[in-house]
Amino acid sequence: MKEVLYKVTFLPSQRTVTAKRGEILLDVLRRESQPVSAVCGGRGNCGKCKALVTDGSEAFPPTLTEARLLTRDEIAAGYRLSCQFKVMTDVRVKTKDLAVDSAVSKRPLPKASIREISPQIRLEEFSLCKPDIDDQASDYSRLMSALVTERPGIDRLNLLRRLPHVIRELDYRGRAVMYGSEVIDLLPFSDESGIFGIAIDIGTTTLAVYLADLKSGEIVAVRSASNPQSAYGQDVISRIDYTMKRYKGIDELRAAVLATMNKLIDDLCKESAVPKERIYDTSIVGNTTMIHILLGISPGRIASSPFIPAFTGGKVFESRELDLEVSIPNSKIYIMPGISAYVGSDITAGILSSGFAEDYGNVLLVDIGTNGEMALRSGERIFACSTAAGPAFEGGNISHGTIARPGAVDHVWLNGKDIGFSTVNGSKASGICGSGLIDAIAVMIDAGVVSESGRIKGEHFELEGTAGRVRINRQDIREVQLAKAAIRAGVSILMDRAGIETRNIDRILLAGAFGNYIDPENALRIGMLPNVPVERVSPVGNAAGLGAVLAVLDSGIRERAESLSSEIHYVELSGRKDFNEIFVENLALREG
Ligand code: FES
Repeated sequence: MKEVLYKVTFLPSQRTVTAKRGEILLDVLRRESQPVSAVCGGRGNCGKCKALVTDGSEAFPPTLTEARLLTRDEIAAGYRLSCQFKVMTDVRVKTKDLAVDSAVSKRPLPKASIREISPQIRLEEFSLCKPDIDDQASDYSRLMSALVTERPGIDRLNLLRRLPHVIRELDYRGRAVMYGSEVIDLLPFSDESGIFGIAIDIGTTTLAVYLADLKSGEIVAVRSASNPQSAYGQDVISRIDYTMKRYKGIDELRAAVLATMNKLIDDLCKESAVPKERIYDTSIVGNTTMIHILLGISPGRIASSPFIPAFTGGKVFESRELDLEVSIPNSKIYIMPGISAYVGSDITAGILSSGFAEDYGNVLLVDIGTNGEMALRSGERIFACSTAAGPAFEGGNISHGTIARPGAVDHVWLNGKDIGFSTVNGSKASGICGSGLIDAIAVMIDAGVVSESGRIKGEHFELEGTAGRVRINRQDIREVQLAKAAIRAGVSILMDRAGIETRNIDRILLAGAFGNYIDPENALRIGMLPNVPVERVSPVGNAAGLGAVLAVLDSGIRERAESLSSEIHYVELSGRKDFNEIFVENLALREG
């Protein structure tokens, strides 16, 4: 029987693709790299995969799941859940613009704490004697003997093929681009285009890409975007599940993240007028699952006990092995070492860039995402663990929850009896993100609207003003309690392993975009962090991204990362019989 195909037109781009009759809209959006947030991975639980079907909606009536998760007004306006809606005629679809998180992109450039600029990539000048009948040394020997680097060599055939032509074109004088002792490119002597590196932090929710000048050590530009794998589930477990259950699922996830990484690199180079062929080195950090998927290595064994990753050590690959579109075929990609299945190289990078390893005393570093990764330093010892905080702080499982994008309520405060709030970019309120949620609950406690146990007065709490309206209900508060209790329980267990008490904690460093934006006072107020004086809590920005930048600017950082990853004591929380008890103790919304 002939297959029936329909047109699916995306708005506002007007791009049209085809879909098979009965194909699930979410599959079409994923295949065509359209922005969609599928927090529950398409299981019909979260209600976050909304799309506005402006034409063709009536050909597939709303399912019971849609009736449960969408309001009547939304259904009347044409909103559908893309994981439920089947394409039964030509349709026109508008999805949320999640592609670029402009709220993150427009943040000021971070200043990397570079102590020494000694990148893995160096330029070495050479001046060769021209060959004649009395000097018949090969081009290769001639070049190698002119370099001061010990035992230099060309390891790649593509450069060896070009060598005779290039050294004559350069008239025997130029600069060799060295990666350690390997010559990876040859440049004219007078070339002033510079040499650059890329640093990438692959977060489960957000990708951040930095362009760094390898000579000056400056961060030239930074860009970020939502991780397109959100279309496959918001947390790492949903994504691992997808790679296990779908044929070529890992290829889909890998292609999605690579396409966004390549686009961000392209944008950075255009914006900074840096030729892509001048990017010689790239360092990448991320949680262990993100790194496995990027490399096309099955993360399946990470998801179930005994939680075994394929590797955690530092690795160097050729950029073309990864399909990363930097133009020099011999440019390198460095993957920073991680620690375990659930404490990845993002934590190694955060430790290196935040001053955590050098700080005196007892220091706690917390990176809050769908997984709360944390490390505690006590004297010479470092303990680390990861706890499943769930997607609440990234807007998942929260009725009006959203990531920190324009329109997200990001701060809430009490002014006398009045409640004020702000939104990202000052846009009309369209949801509430993690920092706003923590503030809102702290304000609700202070206003007597919610009890320590999470009981709320009335049906819901409403934030209403000229900027719009957002509601928080009982279940939302429960989700925050579960998330914050998971984080606090992880911290308690690390403190127990290190043998220290709350009063002994000298500093708490909050890493990541979320850590940067939450109000420490309110995080303490709801009991998410140990109850230390607020001045001991400080945000450290995107510590993982800055750690990745350090790795392209300072080769010594790579050695420190390697030794650090082997020194850290990983604490497996699922092996702790008292975890549940500690978790339940920390559900209450109070300082502690
Ligand atoms: S309800 Fe569709 S992805 Fe969760």
